[in-house]
Amino acid sequence: QARVVAVDGPSGTGKSTVSKRLATQLGAAYLDTGAMYRAATLAALRAGLDLTNTDAVTTAVHHAKLDFGTTPADPYTRLDGAPVDAEIRGPEVTAAVSAVAGIPAVRAHLIAEQRRIIAEAPAGIVVEGRDIGEVVAPDADLKIYLTADEAERARRRSTENNTDITTTAADLARRDTADAKTTKPHEAAPGAVILDTTGLGIEEVVDRMRRLLND
Ligand code: CDP
Repeated sequence: QARVVAVDGPSGTGKSTVSKRLATQLGAAYLDTGAMYRAATLAALRAGLDLTNTDAVTTAVHHAKLDFGTTPADPYTRLDGAPVDAEIRGPEVTAAVSAVAGIPAVRAHLIAEQRRIIAEAPAGIVVEGRDIGEVVAPDADLKIYLTADEAERARRRSTENNTDITTTAADLARRDTADAKTTKPHEAAPGAVILDTTGLGIEEVVDRMRRLLND
């Protein structure tokens, strides 16, 4: 039976990097649910919508043509047929994503899509996000909750995006607070193994996850 690995945790914990590597090593698919919320946000921004107009945003997300590639070597995101991988990680989307991800009808729509993608992954899938172990895939074979101390998270994210550390730290803190209204960025799902990645390298984290999977 195809295995499902759920990886949750806040930004800057290395979720995407380790999830992609683990998926590659397992020969499994990979799903970045954050990219889905980001692409939905971009669709709403492109439509020029007021993001507090939840009905209009929901309609725009329903009508957006979103495609997600689940090969860990090339996990693309497309909106209306064109790649948006760089744009969805830019400052405009990052500033707006928590508001869009906080709309229940948007979440319901994307969660249904996530469950469909998981069900259709014949060789198993590593799924990363904020609510995977608790809401999207509560029956996952392995649930991991990644953490790291705040300073290290900000350091990692600022290196990755080539942004100023103080601004990055402020953005992470703001997003954690905003996300906490919807998901539980600081809490592990029931049954999840907590992995504090502070001071750990990528390979070390991936190795620990593989050992947990084989236990
Ligand atoms: O990579 P980073 O942690 O910065 O963010 P992400 O994983 O791309 O997620 C971007 C945003 O999408 C989060 O700040 C949440 O607002 C939202 N999100 C969510 O609500 N539920 C998920 N399963 C994944 C992301």
